Amino acid sequence: MSTLDNMASSHSGGQLPTRTACVGAVAGSAGASVEQSPIDLSDPSSFAEGFPHHWFAALRHERGLYWQAQRDGGGFWVVSRYGDLKEVCCNPELFSSQVAGVSVIDAAAADPSFTRSLMINMDPPQHAKYRAVVAGRFSRRKLGSLEASIRRRAAEIIDLAVSRGGCEFVNDVAAELPMQVICELMGVPQQDRRYLYGLSNRLIGFDVGFTNSPGTARGAAMEMHAYAQQMANERRRRPGDDLMSELLTGSVDGENLTDEQFNAFFLLLVIAGNETVRTAASNGMHLLLQHREQYHALVADPSLLPAAVEEVLRYEPPVMQFGRSATRDTELAGTHINAGDKITVWYPSANRDVDFFEDADRFDTGRANNHHLSFGVGEHVCLGSNLGRMELKIFFEELVARAPVVSLAGSPQRASSTFINAIKQLPVRFF
Ligand code: HEM
Repeated sequence: MSTLDNMASSHSGGQLPTRTACVGAVAGSAGASVEQSPIDLSDPSSFAEGFPHHWFAALRHERGLYWQAQRDGGGFWVVSRYGDLKEVCCNPELFSSQVAGVSVIDAAAADPSFTRSLMINMDPPQHAKYRAVVAGRFSRRKLGSLEASIRRRAAEIIDLAVSRGGCEFVNDVAAELPMQVICELMGVPQQDRRYLYGLSNRLIGFDVGFTNSPGTARGAAMEMHAYAQQMANERRRRPGDDLMSELLTGSVDGENLTDEQFNAFFLLLVIAGNETVRTAASNGMHLLLQHREQYHALVADPSLLPAAVEEVLRYEPPVMQFGRSATRDTELAGTHINAGDKITVWYPSANRDVDFFEDADRFDTGRANNHHLSFGVGEHVCLGSNLGRMELKIFFEELVARAPVVSLAGSPQRASSTFINAIKQLPVRFF
């Protein structure tokens, strides 16, 4: 039995997959079944107890690439190594974001006519034209003007939680800052922000334990669509100095954005701006609670925080995977890929690749040369990476200044998702 089989069986509660079953599962699209597969990576419950790092370590070591069959008869390739992830993401002509979108595991939850309008699901040259419409707002220089207001908000949120002696960290603290920041940037009025946050959660399944149903997601998408439409109508009448007003004057190929395109931008920014930073902040707090000596070091010397933020992102990346589709027959990691095959790239696995990170399984806030892939790479590299990094750095700076002592006040509750690597609840006390 291979290491991979051993690891898989320990992750799946001792149920031993046979060697033939694993080989069958790896051989390609045909013939593999979910029952034979050691871990079902299309099942959110496979992540209920955390990202299966041990299983991925064996996958990286033994073969790099793995075929995951799905119950509906389809399936997808699992890319586990750092170099292979880069190869896929930096080759959009061969590995398309557009053909089947980037949510290849949970495709049924999305409405294809709408998801096509999201720039994350586009290929060059169309993608670059859409990205250019918003990219300016996310440059470091432009974002610099937000620093003072982000710091003020972070301080208020943390002060409130600390004054109560404790909190449920995910919802009371970590969720609040990114929601306020992205809504501020977009010009969403204060009274509507929690509503949009709720819709964003429903869209990716956060409210229902991350086991999303197509109905829930589509309903939330429709509501968000309607909200964006209303906002577009209002901003056309009375433009402001916000991102959404700017979008309405933006153009692609000399044409202003249509309502559909505007709504797609709106939805993408609300979701991407909320879920990721909340998750990174919660994962960071959880990791630092598990490595208290490193938290104390940050309290003593906050100049260590930029490196600590990068290590949190490397060690427990908020986004687990995105997908692509092969546009023609090709080879990856020595394996034949058929045209049309779906491919998923797994950031938490690439970030633990021992060929790129020394002592990769060690959480080390002092790590240097931390070139993790948590923000992706290539054409679609995260548009909000500067903003996300800035929010996280300020957030933890204000936290260590205001809460030198933090401890767990109950059991953390993880979310089950094939997409977001999140904790749903993290009770903490500040004494
Ligand atoms: C810690 C925080 C974040 C993480 C880990 C993260 C992760 C990612 C990743 C992995 C991608 C690549 C998608 C692909 O290759 O298909 C991406 C794209 C994207 N992210 Fe983020 N993100 C974060 C924060 C944000 C924020 C704050 C925003 C703000 C709006 C944002 C907006 C976007 C957008 C618009 C894209 C699509 C870019 C494109 O298609 O060109 N992200 N993000």
